Amino acid sequence: MESVQGVWLGGRWIPALGLGTWQWGDRWVWGFGRGCGEEDLRGTFGAAVRAGLRLVDTAEVYGSGYAERLLGRLVGETEAPVLVATKFMPFPWRLTRRSLLRALRASLRRLNVDRVFLYQVHWPFLPRSVEFWAEALADAVEEGLAEQAGVSNFRADQIRRAADRLGRRGVRLATVQVSYSLLDRRPERNGVVDACRELQAVLLAYSPLGMGLLAGKYGPDHLPGGMRRARFARLVRQRADLLRALQQVAQARGKTPAQVALNWLVCRGAVPIPGAKNARQVEENAGALG
Ligand SMILES: NC(=O)c1ccc[n+]([C@@H]2O[C@H](COP(=O)([O-])OP(=O)(O)OC[C@H]3O[C@@H](n4cnc5c(N)ncnc54)[C@H](OP(=O)(O)O)[C@@H]3O)[C@@H](O)[C@H]2O)c1
Repeated sequence: MESVQGVWLGGRWIPALGLGTWQWGDRWVWGFGRGCGEEDLRGTFGAAVRAGLRLVDTAEVYGSGYAERLLGRLVGETEAPVLVATKFMPFPWRLTRRSLLRALRASLRRLNVDRVFLYQVHWPFLPRSVEFWAEALADAVEEGLAEQAGVSNFRADQIRRAADRLGRRGVRLATVQVSYSLLDRRPERNGVVDACRELQAVLLAYSPLGMGLLAGKYGPDHLPGGMRRARFARLVRQRADLLRALQQVAQARGKTPAQVALNWLVCRGAVPIPGAKNARQVEENAGALG
């Protein structure tokens, strides 16, 4: 296994680039089963481990549990110390603190592990407050079911409130996962980047390739199928300058657009967690480091 650049998180070094698994089992957005199946994902995971990208982000809702189950099998087949990050979805019918622990235990069973590296609240959904779920996250860490606690899609004020509530229980907010890329620089303007810096929480950048648009292979005459199609048709026109500049920088540096887009985030101290559908994409993305 290669050694890769890292970021300090909760008392240990984690790789500066991770792997996302929303694609695993998802038919609607990612077309799972049409040109990307389980064998491809085995290849994806194997390539990530070989490249030293050991932080793998998943969620109970990805593929309705399929992503966690497959990841659990793959982690069980490797000797490599994979860091599993998964997420709790605060559905409106989940009203008690114990419901987070129940969901986490179900994730652990699917993942076939006793604890995860990182447990994150997926969205700050009502009716419960961010403080309520922060208390439940602290329970998960106290019970030894998760090493680190994180939040996702929280606003800057919600991040601070969650960190404060965790802090009262002696738990640090380790990570904040938000959409962040050359296409989506809102975290720089809405205070999320500043909040992460202030709290020394690692920013996990999701959709770091703009859901594939920044990889440079799509254009007006070549669009993906599924739910990305209409959005990409608009973005290839509206963001034509950005996509052209990305191609130019990539060419000048002997890199690919995906590598430039990911390196841009790494240089800002964020940890991108690109999704990938096969080994080739992972190998290319790993070349963003250095
Ligand atoms: N917390 C949240 O609410 C949330 C939301 C979204 C995502 N996430 C997490 O973040 C991860 C990453 O985000 P994402 O999957 O939405 O988008 P992304 O990482 O920006 O894009 C992933 C897609 O880009 C394409 N791609 C990746 N590498 C490529 C390469 N080297 N060359 C060409 N194409 C490449 C692939 O799709 P095609 O080949 O089909 O183009 C791949 O499925 C997810 O998997 C998930 O773990 C979290």
